Amino acid sequence: MTKDGSFSLKSNYFNETFHSGSGALNEALTKFICPSQIEIFKEESTIRILDVCFGLGYNSAALLDALQQTSIKAKWLGLEIDPRPLDLALKEKDFQNLWSTNILSILQSLRKHSQWNNDWSEGLLLWGDARKMIKAISKTWKADLVFLDAFSPTHCPELWTEEFLSKLAKLLSPGGRIITYCRAAAVRASLRRSGLQIFSIKPSQFTQNNWSEGTIAISSDNKNVNNAKDQPWQLLSPMEEEHLLTRAATPYRDLSGADKPCEIIDRRKIEQFHSNLKVTSDWRRRWFN
Ligand SMILES: C[S@@+](CC[C@H](N)C(=O)[O-])C[C@H]1O[C@@H](n2cnc3c(N)ncnc32)[C@H](O)[C@@H]1O
Repeated sequence: MTKDGSFSLKSNYFNETFHSGSGALNEALTKFICPSQIEIFKEESTIRILDVCFGLGYNSAALLDALQQTSIKAKWLGLEIDPRPLDLALKEKDFQNLWSTNILSILQSLRKHSQWNNDWSEGLLLWGDARKMIKAISKTWKADLVFLDAFSPTHCPELWTEEFLSKLAKLLSPGGRIITYCRAAAVRASLRRSGLQIFSIKPSQFTQNNWSEGTIAISSDNKNVNNAKDQPWQLLSPMEEEHLLTRAATPYRDLSGADKPCEIIDRRKIEQFHSNLKVTSDWRRRWFN
C-alpha cells in the first residue's frame, strides 16, 4: 500500500518498487496524466496511445478514466513482459475500488484476452520484451502519447538505450510526445539526439524540493510547443542543461537489440571512462552544495 492508499508492487528481479512511496495513483496522475494535457485534443478526435511497461495498468487506466469523461476516442497499444502485475492487482479489492466499472472491464479484458473494444476505445496488449514487440507495431501507426514507465535505467537499462528511444521517437505523430518520470541525463540526451524537443516536468506541490518530475520529449514537427506558464512542463533549467554536458549523459547502448543489462551497463562504464565530458561529481558539487 502506498501513501495515497493505492496498491503497488516490488519486483525482486529488478530490485525496485513499481511506484514511488508517495502513491501509485498519485504518481500516474502527476507524472503521466497531467503532462498528457488531454484538454488540448479536440472533442470527437482520436488519441493514439502507446503504454511502454503497462505493469498494473495505472497510467493507462487513469488516462482512459479521464478520456471517458470527454468525447475523445482512444486507440491504445501496450507493451509488457510480465502478466503477473496486472493479475495480482486485479485480485486486490482496493485496486478494483479505484476504477469505474468501464475501466475495470477494460483491465479485465486485457488480462483475459489481451485486448478490448468498446464504442469509444480499443486496445491491444503485446506481451513480451518491448524491444522485440515494438517491431510488431506498423510503421504507419503513430502515437500522440507514449508513456515510458520502465524500471530505472540502472536496473533496466535495456529500455533506456539510444536505440530503443530512437524507435519510440519514430513512432510519434507530429506533435506527439513521450512522457516519462525519468530525468536522467543519459535518457534526456538520447531523446534530444533522436530529434525531439525535451522539457522538464515541473515539480508538483507535493514534491517541492524535487527539481523535476520527469521528462516530456515532443516531436519537433510541432511548431506550437511553447513554454507558457500554465504548461505542466518547462524548458530545462541551466542546471539541467549542464547535467547533459557531464558523463552522466553518456548513453546506454544496445548494439544487438537484445543485449543483456550487464553488457549495456559495462559498455557505458567504459565509454564514460574514456569520455571527454565533464565529471558529474563537479556538476553535483556546483549545484547542490
Ligand atoms: C515500473 S513498472 C511499470 C508500472 C506501470 N506503468 C503501472 O502503471 O503500474 C515496470 C514494468 O516494466 C515491465 N518490464 C520490464 N522489462 C520489460 C521489457 N523488457 N519489456 C516489457 N516490459 C518490461 C515490468 O514487468 C514492469 O511491469
